[in-house]
Amino acid sequence: MKILRFSWLNFRNLTSGELRPCGGVNVLWGGNAQGKTNLLEGMWLFTGERSFRGAKDAEMVRAGCAESRLRLDFYGGGRGQTAQIRIAAGRRSAQLNGVPQRSCAAMIGEFRAAVFSPEHLSLLSGGPARRRNFIDAAVCQLRPACAAVFAEYGRALAQRNALLKDIPAHAELLDTLDIWDARLARSGEAVMRARQAYAQALAGPAARFYAGMCGGREALSLRYEKNAGDLAAALRRSRREDLLTGHTGAGPHRDDLAVEISGMGARAYASQGQKRSAVIALKLAEAELLARRTGEPPVVFLDDVLSELDGERQSYLLNRLRDFQVFVTCCEPVPGGPPASGREPEPGRQPEPGRQPDTGREPDTGRQPDTGRRLFHVQGGVPAQGPE
Ligand SMILES: Nc1ncnc2c1ncn2[C@@H]1O[C@H](COP(=O)(O)OP(=O)(O)O)[C@@H](O)[C@H]1O
Ligand SMILES: [Mg+2]
Repeated sequence: MKILRFSWLNFRNLTSGELRPCGGVNVLWGGNAQGKTNLLEGMWLFTGERSFRGAKDAEMVRAGCAESRLRLDFYGGGRGQTAQIRIAAGRRSAQLNGVPQRSCAAMIGEFRAAVFSPEHLSLLSGGPARRRNFIDAAVCQLRPACAAVFAEYGRALAQRNALLKDIPAHAELLDTLDIWDARLARSGEAVMRARQAYAQALAGPAARFYAGMCGGREALSLRYEKNAGDLAAALRRSRREDLLTGHTGAGPHRDDLAVEISGMGARAYASQGQKRSAVIALKLAEAELLARRTGEPPVVFLDDVLSELDGERQSYLLNRLRDFQVFVTCCEPVPGGPPASGREPEPGRQPEPGRQPDTGREPDTGRQPDTGRRLFHVQGGVPAQGPE
């Protein structure tokens, strides 16, 4: 999956212009509030998902303008494609290869990307619900059929909890609790299996990305933490207490994804830089699993990740993510020092030039763009190619 060209009209502080990225690492640098995140957000919308900033559609239209238009030429699914988004009257609409879509969400799966923004740090610093949501969303992306499994568990849990609250006043309902326990145990076991399998699959690539960032000096490990082994038995055990509290005490709605760095719980012990590296490793691992299933690495957007990382970690993100087209925003033109070693070539690959000249040609949407690194200085909503 590669972006060949992105253009816009009246999107946030971006009036009109275009970006022609390379297929490797694209660094969008500049002062605060110049439009770097806006550029990532605009490209991200083509995933069909909501803004990764949680913005409402109307907020993204340039102030004082009636509508906003975006266009993305990308290589995906083995061919060049063009998608367009229009935001007007608080609504988003989309076209893919000239064909109007029912909704923007109908484009999900056509252009795929992974994003890290500082808000995603809550994945480690926040509570377990945040990590469960991360796994559930990732599982559904890989195996859409799992959405029904999660939904079934959610419904069974809500109904059992409602029943627990009703029983004190209606003792005759106690008999029906067995039925709900059986349903909850069945769907709960399916939820746990799906999450556990995903956590296991994620652990390898996440550890590898993390080790790459820190030169192998620290080790990242992941473990799906169940609060109940045999859910049916756990529900029987906790029934008395559940009837008192009106809540179900056992089940995957209480589970967590344990993240450890060199054997220490990341949430409690990791430094800011370690937490940031761990979340990036999780996101990249998620992208890699998606790439394995679809056969195509998603585009990676890294917003403001470099600031708290040391030179080695920065250099890894800038030089070593060879399989992905990457967009990185930062304040400095060449963070992590000059690309002295360039993008380190993989065995059998040619070293690539640090910067590619813009040929000024229309993008050839049938071909993937070159790799390497390209710098864009973003000022007042205008990205200019080149270090200065
Ligand atoms: N709808 C909008 N219309 C006009 N300007 C906007 C709109 N939304 C955000 N902005 C402006 O965009 C700028 C922030 O851009 P952003 O991409 O977040 O900056 P950064 O380069 O720091 O990532 C702010 O100056 C903000 O006022
Ligand atoms: Mg920003």
